[in-house]
Amino acid sequence: MKNIAERNDENIVMKNILTRTSDRLFDTTREVSKNQIEQLLHAAMAAPSGVNRQPWHFYVVTDKTLLAQLADSLPYCKMAKDAAAAIVSCGDSKKFLEGVDDTLWVQDLSAASENILLAANSLGLGSVWTALYPHFDRMEKVKQLLKIDDTFVPFNVIPVGYVLTPHKPLDKWNPANITYLE
Ligand SMILES: Cc1cc2nc3c(=O)[nH]c(=O)nc-3n(C[C@H](O)[C@H](O)[C@H](O)COP(=O)(O)O)c2cc1C
Repeated sequence: MKNIAERNDENIVMKNILTRTSDRLFDTTREVSKNQIEQLLHAAMAAPSGVNRQPWHFYVVTDKTLLAQLADSLPYCKMAKDAAAAIVSCGDSKKFLEGVDDTLWVQDLSAASENILLAANSLGLGSVWTALYPHFDRMEKVKQLLKIDDTFVPFNVIPVGYVLTPHKPLDKWNPANITYLE
């Protein structure tokens, strides 16, 4: 019987999930193609969403000046200045649910964001989720900088690019986080 690590090594999806890392050191000499970006966004839009509302909109920043301005104006997004691109995920308020479900869009955007990170890893690209929501000061700065439409709520910035030196994924497996009811 193979152990979990050995079984995961044979499964490319599991391997992709377990080797994803948050990357913050990008190779400034390598670009990322529009085709690669669209693969990331294809993965994002394949995510599940409450009542299948798909309440998202993505701004793709490849302009070097804007990438540097994002890095300068956000406290934990300094790596954006060296990234080939940054995907700014936004909630589309026109598609938000109402009543008790009015915050489900945050979960929808989180699912889409994780798909972007995993797709990037599968393409040999590095990426990192940097938080905007629920920091209203950061959301407002990005809104003004990128001239984001008022109906969109900036959620996160995901810098993407080839990494300078890949680093080892953290091993977060912890059986203490599980309760089995058998
Ligand atoms: C909601 C959320 C917010 C995060 N915000 C930032 C951020 O602003 N800047 C950053 O460098 N990393 C950010 N991260 C990345 C985490 O620091 C990273 O996932 C964590 O340290 C575990 O490392 P790993 O992703 O390599 O496994 C964020 C991740 C999540 C899920």
